[in-house]
Amino acid sequence: MILAEQPVICLLPFMDLQNVGKEGVLQDLTFGKDGSLYVATHGIADYWYNPIQESTGGFYKLVYDPQQKVKTQYQRSVKQETFSSSSLEKGKDLYKTTACFACHATEDGQELLGPTLKGLGNRMSREEIYESIMNPSAIIKPSMEGTKITLKDGKVLLGRIVNSNEQQFDLMLIGNQVLQITRNEIATFETQKKSLRYEGLIKILSKADQESLLDYLQSLK
Ligand code: HEC
Repeated sequence: MILAEQPVICLLPFMDLQNVGKEGVLQDLTFGKDGSLYVATHGIADYWYNPIQESTGGFYKLVYDPQQKVKTQYQRSVKQETFSSSSLEKGKDLYKTTACFACHATEDGQELLGPTLKGLGNRMSREEIYESIMNPSAIIKPSMEGTKITLKDGKVLLGRIVNSNEQQFDLMLIGNQVLQITRNEIATFETQKKSLRYEGLIKILSKADQESLLDYLQSLK
């Protein structure tokens, strides 16, 4: 650790200090005289670090505290997974019957309400995928949050903002239809804390079927 007489300011873009400023676009780092580390984040970014127009940020002080228990991380399986072709076939069918395909693409192309699951096996472990399906609101993918818009005529709309400019918002509804709403039609605008996904979609499946669906999801590269 560098201990500076004068605070050192350095700018680290795209840094990932676990949960600290996890959505930060740019972060300033400095050590205090006692060795504490200060992190300032400016703004938030989506998954691909595109800046989002929202006036948020934070200033954090990181202090070493041996009393703190480390939050358990999901086990990432490092071994090369191989799945039987019959299980993959079954998983692919279940992907359709449990409605995943209604909101997710598995290839590049069409934008749907949910993010593409192409490459899912490279970015999430089996445990994370399972947890994400069972408990969708625990971690909502940045920029994929739901927005509830109440219009001045009383109509309530729920969906995901896919585009916006000074005059209007493009809101994708469940079912992937995109509505254009001009700003002056809007009475209230609320970002949802709950995911647009349904909870426990695969609870009705048998354990074996769940495993096949997970095999299929993990095989998406
Ligand atoms: C009603 C639409 C909808 C349905 C149906 C749906 N999802 Fe999603 N899903 C979403 C949205 C929206 C997100 C992003 C917001 C979030 O993280 O909750 C998402 C996120 C995910 C993620 C996290 C992806 C990432 O890159 O972080 C996974 C995994 C996932 N869904 C799997 C599934 C599976 C498997 C099914 C079927 C059992 C399913 N989803 C059904 C809308 C849906």
